[in-house]
Amino acid sequence: MKADILIHNISKIISPIGLANGQAIEASEPVKTIINAAIAIQDGIILAVGSESEVSSLYQADETIDALRGVVLPGFVDCHTHPVFVTTREDEFAMRIAGKSYVEISKSGGGIRSTIASTRDASEDLLFELAAKRIKKMISLGTTSLEAKSGYGLDTNSELKQLRVIKRLNEELPIDIIPTFMGAHEYPAEYKDNHAKYISILCEEMIPAVAEQGIAEFCDIFTEAHVFSIAESEQILSCAKGHGLKLKMHADEIEPIGGAELSAELGCVSADHLGAASDQGIADMKQAGVIPVLLPATLFSLRSKHYARARYMLEAGLPVAIATDYNPGSCNCDSMPFTMTLACLQMGMSPAEALLAATFNAAKAISRGGLAGSIEVGKYADLCLWDIPNLNFIPYHFGSSHLSRVIKKGKTIYKAELE
Ligand code: NIG
Ligand code: FE
Repeated sequence: MKADILIHNISKIISPIGLANGQAIEASEPVKTIINAAIAIQDGIILAVGSESEVSSLYQADETIDALRGVVLPGFVDCHTHPVFVTTREDEFAMRIAGKSYVEISKSGGGIRSTIASTRDASEDLLFELAAKRIKKMISLGTTSLEAKSGYGLDTNSELKQLRVIKRLNEELPIDIIPTFMGAHEYPAEYKDNHAKYISILCEEMIPAVAEQGIAEFCDIFTEAHVFSIAESEQILSCAKGHGLKLKMHADEIEPIGGAELSAELGCVSADHLGAASDQGIADMKQAGVIPVLLPATLFSLRSKHYARARYMLEAGLPVAIATDYNPGSCNCDSMPFTMTLACLQMGMSPAEALLAATFNAAKAISRGGLAGSIEVGKYADLCLWDIPNLNFIPYHFGSSHLSRVIKKGKTIYKAELE
């Protein structure tokens, strides 16, 4: 039989085992391994995956890729990022080292608000160039699907401008980029003492415009004691839901104010952060099928001693996902491999659980469970070729890249430079 591409000479394929109905699998068996393997690809989709002797004898391909006895994993799905902005905030990094907290910095003129003016002033071309450069780096670290949020404009035109930039990034860069509207990222300075007015702009102007233009798939919000309260979040998210947007929340990152509970009540696709989520909130999420997206690099960058309770969630049967939370303030981390390291060392996840979280469950968190996140017949051929002996090596040897090739829908989009 014919195939476009045959990848052969693979020492191991390691992938979550997806179930046909897109259900997350049992935490006791997060991934499966096929040794001495090969993969056949047709039209960007996986046609066959199995032992080298089987697959290579069945398929004749126009192009062959020699994996050089490396390991093949699914491409990473980074399901929570904020890459569209101009100015970085390394001054806040220094302030945190000097002992200031994220909330103190936000209240004293830093934080999200300090990224707003430069984003509002920037041309779409500048925002595009800067974000494209950031995303190319993510690709070089193995990311093949990405969720990207607006939220540094905080007025109708600037939010729509950010979403147009995300649309163009999706069209011009070689990976899938899923757009999320996050006008409720913070109260802009002009409405900091008039929350009702900003909420009416969100609900009467921004959300209807975003929905009408079909320019975002999800609506997200920063539900936290110093930003959007539970009642405010419920109002804004209900409005977004009424306009046909799917929902996400930044929930209970710092304080347990009931964000996880609300995510379940509203039927969010995911609730993210959850560093302080309550037992009840976690039980509610499980019941409602909300995916927990944990962002350990953020808590690491904020110098937190406490991480989200990944083990508790896994033992309760939730399909835990992880993501970088790449943003200019709380977490300037673009690396899914490093995020896996933190998931293992700081949250006690096994390397296999971390891989499942960074691929299969992350794809579910952006409603792409049937398309990406595992190496299965019929899914996108989104693959990473690694120069490693086994899966443990990725979180174990952190701080440098062991990737030799990144493939998106069958096309090589990154190759490590050879000497
Ligand atoms: O996910 N929590 C809200 N948003 C970002 C922080 C963004 C910023 O500080 O610019 C986050 O951590
Ligand atoms: Fe975030």
